[in-house]
Amino acid sequence: MSVIKIEDIAHVRFAAPDLAKMQSFLTDFGLQSDINEDGRLYARGSDGIPFNHVTETGDPGFVALGLRAESVEDLEKLAQAENAAVESLDAPGGGKVVRLRDPDGFLVEIVAGQGKSANGQLPADASRNSAESKDRLRQAVRLEPGPSHVQRLGHCVLNVSDFRASERWYKERFGFITSDEIEARAGTAIGAFMRCDRGDEPTDHHTLFLAQLPQKRGFMHAAFEVANMDDLMLGHQHLKSRKHHASWGVGRHVLGSQIFDYWTDPWGHELEHWTDGDLFTAADGSNMATASDLLAVQWGMPSPILSGKLAPSPETLGFFMAMHARLKAFFGRGSRKSVEG
Ligand SMILES: [Fe+2]
Repeated sequence: MSVIKIEDIAHVRFAAPDLAKMQSFLTDFGLQSDINEDGRLYARGSDGIPFNHVTETGDPGFVALGLRAESVEDLEKLAQAENAAVESLDAPGGGKVVRLRDPDGFLVEIVAGQGKSANGQLPADASRNSAESKDRLRQAVRLEPGPSHVQRLGHCVLNVSDFRASERWYKERFGFITSDEIEARAGTAIGAFMRCDRGDEPTDHHTLFLAQLPQKRGFMHAAFEVANMDDLMLGHQHLKSRKHHASWGVGRHVLGSQIFDYWTDPWGHELEHWTDGDLFTAADGSNMATASDLLAVQWGMPSPILSGKLAPSPETLGFFMAMHARLKAFFGRGSRKSVEG
């Protein structure tokens, strides 16, 4: 039993030396933003949450992961268990926050009681005609060019130094459930996609992905849900026309099934657009998966690591070569199996 159950990811916090440059990128990415009187840049989607991306002035880097608790009472329970303080959240929307450090020293800000405004408008998903079913009749498709319409922040990926230690830390405090655990070979876990425990309420396939990959420990990416597939593709076109850096996409993931598109901000932090992801309830359990499942696409651009577009470090190359050999042996022995979350 965990101390509390978080209901969703709340925000990601960064530092960057030029807030106007970050704001220009985030506008092209499809977030609305303002530089507040506290000197921080707060960006938001259309879901009425006051912010989901914060930038403060400083050397570029990832600063904190924000998670949202169900209530201020839960924050108090967490603070007591952790011998931490419940502080006022001095940011748009107000509310309360408990600040903790995870086993790698990453700052985790658990928030509750934030004010919420009404949901903004999202472009409607047009009816589609397929070979078997003609739903759009006597009506043309006409799309408005421009940035994607980001609704919300959906997940964050952190590369940690000890997956099991971090998994325990996050599960014990926040009640995460493993959706897919990734094994490099039988018995050797290198990470897990974890979802919130919302009981019977379906929730994203993952809110947090903890990975233990050979690259540097730290932030890997944060992912934002956009209106629909046309909206994602229009956003891709817009970011490309604005000469931002595309890092992977468009494609459809295997684990989580999302249609994805990854870009980097001006300082190299990776942000993902996604749509049409899997939703599961607490009863849907957990699965084992392979590193091939992690990197493979069902269609679209292969992972830059596999397609040679990104030169892997010698450590990464060695790791994947060893893993490839192990996967062959693994598949030779049998198939996937289920595990407890
Ligand atoms: Fe992602």
